[in-house]
Amino acid sequence: MPVSTFNVDEFIRPNIRNLKPYRSARDDFSEGILLDANENSLGSVVESDQQLNRYPDPLHDDLRSAWANYREVQKDQVFLGVGSDEPIDLLIRMTCHPGRDNILITPPTYGMYKVAADVNDVAVKEVQLDSDFQPLSDEILRGVDERTKIIFLCSPNNPTGNLLSPDRIYPILNHFNGLVVVDEAYIDFSDSTGWSGEIRNHPNLVVLQTLSKAFGLAGIRIGAAIASAELIGYMLRMKAPYNVNKLTAATALKAFDQTEKLRSFINELNRERERLANELQQLSIVKRVRPSDANFLLVHFDDALAIYHELAGRGVIVRYRGDQPGCDQALRITVGARSENDRLISELKKLTE
Ligand SMILES: Cc1ncc(COP(=O)(O)O)c(C=O)c1O
Repeated sequence: MPVSTFNVDEFIRPNIRNLKPYRSARDDFSEGILLDANENSLGSVVESDQQLNRYPDPLHDDLRSAWANYREVQKDQVFLGVGSDEPIDLLIRMTCHPGRDNILITPPTYGMYKVAADVNDVAVKEVQLDSDFQPLSDEILRGVDERTKIIFLCSPNNPTGNLLSPDRIYPILNHFNGLVVVDEAYIDFSDSTGWSGEIRNHPNLVVLQTLSKAFGLAGIRIGAAIASAELIGYMLRMKAPYNVNKLTAATALKAFDQTEKLRSFINELNRERERLANELQQLSIVKRVRPSDANFLLVHFDDALAIYHELAGRGVIVRYRGDQPGCDQALRITVGARSENDRLISELKKLTE
């Protein structure tokens, strides 16, 4: 059962609740003789068919609708951000009083939750994932206090690659009287349809998504938070007026028409992931390849740091993750194109000789 007492208004800091949002020029008019925003009326020094001299739409409702259709939610349940990193920061600022409140994370996990909390002077509680990298629901629920405003979960988790089990997430959603953020940056590589369908049942759920991974659009910086319209409404009020630019929005809109290309990327990368995992497993320097539902593998070696440096010296760059709990002697390796994976394997084979 969802927490019956959850009331989103109570979780919003009073200064945000009472915020009179900045009204941008483009909130009211986007056509006519536009002398309202101190833009350059002569045009832009760079040729473009996008009217780059004009500020972008503050809301990008067409893109919100496209994202909403794709994930089967409503437009007013979608917030667009500069990557999914922007909503991480906004959610913390929106709910946590600096120097007083805290968030809870489940290491090993994505580093930005803690960085965003630290920047905002918000304390971070930690409850480590278990040995299968699943969240310990009871310990998490015992670990929070009345000042805990957000629990961040990441599924599939970075850097471990696995989906989090719904059996572990539901108790947290049902019993924590605060926001539960499920970061789905890698969801499209998995067999799961994710948690966006659950926002209608759980007013405390926020799902984060991005076009940086399976859609292959890391360079344009676009992500989304999906949650109740009330919560999204607060995020819209506090965001920078023109956070998502025109070039990004136009490119992102096209992405949702490219579902065949998306499917073929996912299929190819997932096939490569399995091939790479098999090849790695056969190397004597590899101790363990963790199962992955994402476009990367967590791989335990004999001496991960030495291998990291050797590979870098040979022009193959991976991520050292051996300093994270449960990731002893581990490297996180992104699944590349076939030729890149071949090169990685061949360099590792040379290191075993
Ligand atoms: C789990 C997770 N969440 C969020 C992000 C940030 O993505 P974006 O490019 O949308 O800011 C990343 C990037 O690596 C990630 O691994």
